[in-house]
Amino acid sequence: MTISCLSSSSEETLRIGKELGQGLEPGMVVLLSGELGSGKTVFTKGLAQGLGIADPDLITSPSFIIMNIYPARVPIYHIDLYRIDDIRGLESAGLEEYLGGDGIAVVEWGEKLPRSYLPESCIKINFEMTGEEDRRITIFGPARFIPERLQNTGQ
Ligand SMILES: Nc1ncnc2c1ncn2[C@@H]1O[C@H](COP(=O)(O)OP(=O)(O)OP(=O)(O)O)[C@@H](O)[C@H]1O
Ligand SMILES: [Mg+2]
Repeated sequence: MTISCLSSSSEETLRIGKELGQGLEPGMVVLLSGELGSGKTVFTKGLAQGLGIADPDLITSPSFIIMNIYPARVPIYHIDLYRIDDIRGLESAGLEEYLGGDGIAVVEWGEKLPRSYLPESCIKINFEMTGEEDRRITIFGPARFIPERLQNTGQ
């Protein structure tokens, strides 16, 4: 299913992330797409809170090192592909082992991942900047992972 939420502040984006995070199961891959500054890392922070991370301040954009791992209810693999031009180079980094494994992978610039890397069910989220603080957040994925509250407020 596809739902679209409007956020008018970072706090709202955090909350949407948190609600989605609460229902995720190990093995899920969450792909985040959207231009620079559209809210992917803010959303990841919310998601990690929903997954029970003790200290959300741990979450920073892993742009320079490709991946951060945060301990939560299940491990969170926070991957950022912004600087990656050729995904094939990452095979040697063993990226695939983190996708669809024991934890939850959240991938900024997730559209760069080839389909063959992805498990059957994944969630894709698109961030559009519609104003200085306004964002349209569109979530595509299996209905069972999309909280009802978001489904009802989705427009
Ligand atoms: N509604 C909103 N939702 C999310 N962030 C917002 C919102 N309004 C303003 N912001 C601001 O926009 C910025 C979003 O930054 P963030 O690092 O999450 O973007 P990003 O998509 O991860 O960018 P990058 O591609 O550089 O990693 C933050 O400075 C945040 O405070
Ligand atoms: Mg980011």
